[in-house]
Amino acid sequence: MTRVLSCIQPTGEVHLGNYLGALRNWVEGQDKADVFHGIVDLHALTVTEKPGVIGVNTLQLAAMLFAVGLNPDVATVFVQSHIAAHSQLSWIMECTVSFGELSRMTQFKDKSAKREAEFVSAGLFTYPALQAADILLYDADEVPVGDDQRQHIEITRDIAIRFNHRFGETFVIPKAVTPKSGARVMDLQNPTAKMSKSGDDDSGVIYLLDPPKTIEKKFKRAVTDSDTDVVYDRERKPGVSNLLEILAAATMTSPQQAAEKYSRYGDLKMGSAEAVIAMLEPIQRRYQQLLQDKAELMRLVHKGNSRAEAVAAKTLARAQDAIGFLGKT
Ligand code: TYM
Repeated sequence: MTRVLSCIQPTGEVHLGNYLGALRNWVEGQDKADVFHGIVDLHALTVTEKPGVIGVNTLQLAAMLFAVGLNPDVATVFVQSHIAAHSQLSWIMECTVSFGELSRMTQFKDKSAKREAEFVSAGLFTYPALQAADILLYDADEVPVGDDQRQHIEITRDIAIRFNHRFGETFVIPKAVTPKSGARVMDLQNPTAKMSKSGDDDSGVIYLLDPPKTIEKKFKRAVTDSDTDVVYDRERKPGVSNLLEILAAATMTSPQQAAEKYSRYGDLKMGSAEAVIAMLEPIQRRYQQLLQDKAELMRLVHKGNSRAEAVAAKTLARAQDAIGFLGKT
């Protein structure tokens, strides 16, 4: 059976880009494959300096993952810091990736540039090594992600190939899987930049928990393009094309087909808002229900952790044996 792994960081609120680019595919995959999904709190630490934030965000994110439809009976949802093997394999990965390779990562360049006047942790730089550990520990064949993560999956492949070459066949070589529509959801106010929870201004970001009125307002104010035609053309018409792509993803059609139904920008904005509100309504309801019972949420997380732990521990031991560390017995 195909093994799938993908993860999300507990930083900020989950937005439409996370949902259409990744989470929705995770849910779709759970009945076809053996799926593992991590809440990667160690990754969040690369940009967290305040106490008491990560844990609260982690539990809320667990509620969100079940609210979007991950079924705890079939999907393994786990918390990264609860499984020691992630940190342990991460060091081995750091020694299998080069400084030059890490220096070429666009996410590091972007994030460190944005934090210009702030603390840039070494963890932000070595982040892809931890991400490679997340993926390789579960022998993942497929990694369903948004477009922005492609480079991190590529470097994971390079690391795995290098390790296997040095120490013998140990890791499965994974591949990235991105959705047809929604792989790169752009900011509604700045359609040439991806929708992201780390921006200062969030008027162009749709959060999954935004009330319907807020969603409507954000779509109404979305930046469109200078002429008035509703056509899908990412290069020439980034604003309209982003709306069409969101609408297509929300209504399960193609952006070209979605374009045929509209002749005016105003109607397209309202149509997109309505489709997104309808898509998010059941998720918001389930999220509120799940958050009522924290003990049950903890039980579900522990259930996922124990399954993930068993798989991860075995792979770590395999890697340690391949290297030839002195055995403990
Ligand atoms: P994160 O937490 O930033 O995002 C989670 C997922 O959401 C996708 N995504 C988007 N997709 C489309 N349009 C957007 N605007 C958009 N913004 C975010 C991301 O591609 C991602 O799939 N490094 C990862 C977390 C991670 C991970 C892993 C992922 C750690 N270990 C192992 C896969 C496998 C990250 O920061 O994602």
